[in-house]
Amino acid sequence: MEIKPNFSLKKYNTFGIDAKAKEFVAVHSVADLKEVLEENDTKKKFVLGGGSNMLLTQDVDALVVHIDLKGKKVVKEDENFVWVEGQAGENWHEFVLWNIENNFGGLENMSLIPGNVGTTPVQNIGAYGAEIKDTFVSCDAMHIATREMRTFNREECNFGYRESIFKQEVKDQYIITSVVFKLTKKNHKVNISYGDITKELEKNNITEPTIKDVSNAVIAIRQSKLPDPKELGNSGSFFKNPVITKEHFEKIHLQFPEMKYYVVSPTEVKVPAGWLIEQAGFKGMRIGDAGVHKNQALVLVNYGNATGAEIVNLSKEIQKTIFEKYTIAIQAEVNII
Ligand code: EPU
Repeated sequence: MEIKPNFSLKKYNTFGIDAKAKEFVAVHSVADLKEVLEENDTKKKFVLGGGSNMLLTQDVDALVVHIDLKGKKVVKEDENFVWVEGQAGENWHEFVLWNIENNFGGLENMSLIPGNVGTTPVQNIGAYGAEIKDTFVSCDAMHIATREMRTFNREECNFGYRESIFKQEVKDQYIITSVVFKLTKKNHKVNISYGDITKELEKNNITEPTIKDVSNAVIAIRQSKLPDPKELGNSGSFFKNPVITKEHFEKIHLQFPEMKYYVVSPTEVKVPAGWLIEQAGFKGMRIGDAGVHKNQALVLVNYGNATGAEIVNLSKEIQKTIFEKYTIAIQAEVNII
């Protein structure tokens, strides 16, 4: 394995920020990973997966370890279900498509989410009514300090909305090397409850959708709203949708009756941040090369040469305005480095 000094990370983060790593190494196996961690025990390290959920605001003064483990296979099956293992460096969307081609159901609603298999549990990725936790069985991870492998089952991961143990109790302690999902082989439960999917299927006169149809619908919706990181740097939703108390919501709702919302529990309400940002007038705004996407206000974009700091400044301006207008604090979903 070659350790490269002063390495540009522009191609390794979907925001396309040209920050540099002090040193960079790509690992292709668990054995490689163990060796790199052992040999560089005292160095500061930074783990990089698909680079799809981070914003680099400065050069990374560390050894960047890029997790590039590849492979996907069926590890177990019974009459109805299949247990599929994906290595951490597999591209998520290609992994989803491979499962659909094999007629394994459960991941189709999460088609086209940027990123790699290994980072999906970290923030319990989700879209169109599905989350990774619905099909997740376990993941293997290496403890950075001791290089011991550990398997985390679903309960241990403590999944929540864009949350898991990997962002909380064991943050920065483990590197996920592979993930196992339990998928259906037959009698697939297609989940088309999300309004946009129903509309897209109706448009194509599909009444009994297959998992492939659902995947195609999700791909069409995402392509119409969300920018392709290959064309326009971005990290998907930049902010989380804020969850506020019912009392707080009722007060704001009186003032803004047209506000969109979802009741998530008897005491809590979720408000779509994209709606708040659009209403606050930011949709489509551009300052230099940093901007708010024209079709989905929750997504911040890099038109070419924006720095991480410029994007952070724009995000702070948005947070400040939303707070002043709605008394709602919105938080970044993306990791700001
Ligand atoms: N909305 C607006 N203006 C906008 C964007 C959204 O008014 O510019 C309104 C929409 O009309 C809709 C509501 O906000 O009523 C929700 O919008 P949408 O269905 O597009 O979803 P979202 O809440 O903005 C979340 C996820 C996305 C995921 C979609 C679909 C988060 C932070 N984001 O976005 O995930 O694809 O739902 O399930 O939960 C990601 O995490 O990177 C991501 C793209």
